[in-house]
Amino acid sequence: MEIARKARVITVVGARPNFMKAAPIIAAIRDHNNRLAMSPSAMGFGHSQIAIESVLVHTGQHYDEAMSDRFFTDLNIPRPDVHLEAGSGSHAVQTAEIMKRFEDVLLRERADLVVVVGDVNSTLACALVAAKISYDTYGARPLIAHVEAGLRSFDRCMPEEINRIVTDHLADLLFVTEESGLRNLREEGVPDHKIHFVGNTMIDSLLAFKHKADQSPILGKLGLRDSDSGHESTNGIARYALLTLHRPSNVDRREGFLSILEGLEELAGSCPVIFPAHPRTQKRIADFGFERFFRRQNRSDEGEKTRSTSPSGRICLVDPLGYIDFLCLMEHAAVVVTDSGGIQEETTCLGVPCVTVRENTERPITIRVGTNILAGTSAEGIRQAAQRQLESKTKGTVPEAWDGRSAQRILDVICQEIEKRQPL
Ligand code: UD1
Repeated sequence: MEIARKARVITVVGARPNFMKAAPIIAAIRDHNNRLAMSPSAMGFGHSQIAIESVLVHTGQHYDEAMSDRFFTDLNIPRPDVHLEAGSGSHAVQTAEIMKRFEDVLLRERADLVVVVGDVNSTLACALVAAKISYDTYGARPLIAHVEAGLRSFDRCMPEEINRIVTDHLADLLFVTEESGLRNLREEGVPDHKIHFVGNTMIDSLLAFKHKADQSPILGKLGLRDSDSGHESTNGIARYALLTLHRPSNVDRREGFLSILEGLEELAGSCPVIFPAHPRTQKRIADFGFERFFRRQNRSDEGEKTRSTSPSGRICLVDPLGYIDFLCLMEHAAVVVTDSGGIQEETTCLGVPCVTVRENTERPITIRVGTNILAGTSAEGIRQAAQRQLESKTKGTVPEAWDGRSAQRILDVICQEIEKRQPL
């Protein structure tokens, strides 16, 4: 049987949390094409005959080995076809730089569809370009698919909230991870036919790479397998907490950051707290002279066992980790303390207690059925929440459709929508 049609799909990635959300979509496109090439007639009912040319665009919002390159290796993502090298800057500068560079790419590639994921500046910038571009004098433009649509913190001080709202209202296809997303979009007047409840592609990645994480050497490197450390351990793994903090609202103001660190003192006195710190956070620690709260593990320690097992009251600061090592640390932690969005979902899927150091969350399902609690940002709130979660035995339940098949559902919808349109 002849392949009926070809379509070009651009997937945009830019910053660290994009990589694990986009990887399963790129893999699903590759598998679809392989199946089609091997046996076009055997695709069967419900499978599209469209061959998809996948173009991966990296905006360069994150550019370090630790914030970007390592994730391509860990998640088996192919090298980007196009790298925009937009880099850091204020929100306006970064967004504008990405837009200028992405417009040239889109005009050259004339993609049928652009996939943007999550809520970072790259997501908004590329959706905005795709929404206003004209390939010809008739105004032909690509479809825009937004993966992780509908999440709302209802806090417009968060740059991500602005990115989420605008991207959702530009998108033609809105792929939703949890029920609150459906409700939010309907309340904002987004028509039902654009909205598709598909589950969570970040959980596709987690389930696909969990076995690899089980082989990570990171626990040994950090001395957390130390059975003779004299501390409570399960299966030879020390009891430890995992910490991430990077939100400007938490780390850019001295008093706010200080109160969070004070809230963590009791936890750091009772078990090792491992803190892979974002470059922004490391800079702030130096700016504010907060080194006294931390014990630094240098890059040069990598490969050697470092004693993190004895709580000294100081947090064990390490450079940002790759996906596989971080997943391994999350899986075995007694508690995870974070201000990240995605980690609330990953801990819910793993059944690991999570303390979110924020006043709100755009992911309420992680609280309703999962293992997450909102601590706020006061020292006392964090202290109490960490204590409660350390003692928690609740495993929660995994939300509907977080089953490892979300990317395939997305691809099925994308193919159907492309089939409905005239070729560009
Ligand atoms: C971005 C996202 C945030 C996401 C976070 C994950 C937006 C608005 N924010 O925030 O939602 O949770 O990524 O990490 O898009 N830097 C480096 N190396 C890098 C990248 C950044 O050193 O590879 C430093 C730079 O000093 C830069 C700063 O980190 O100025 C902040 O980077 P930026 O991309 O502006 O925002 P994030 O805080 O990383």
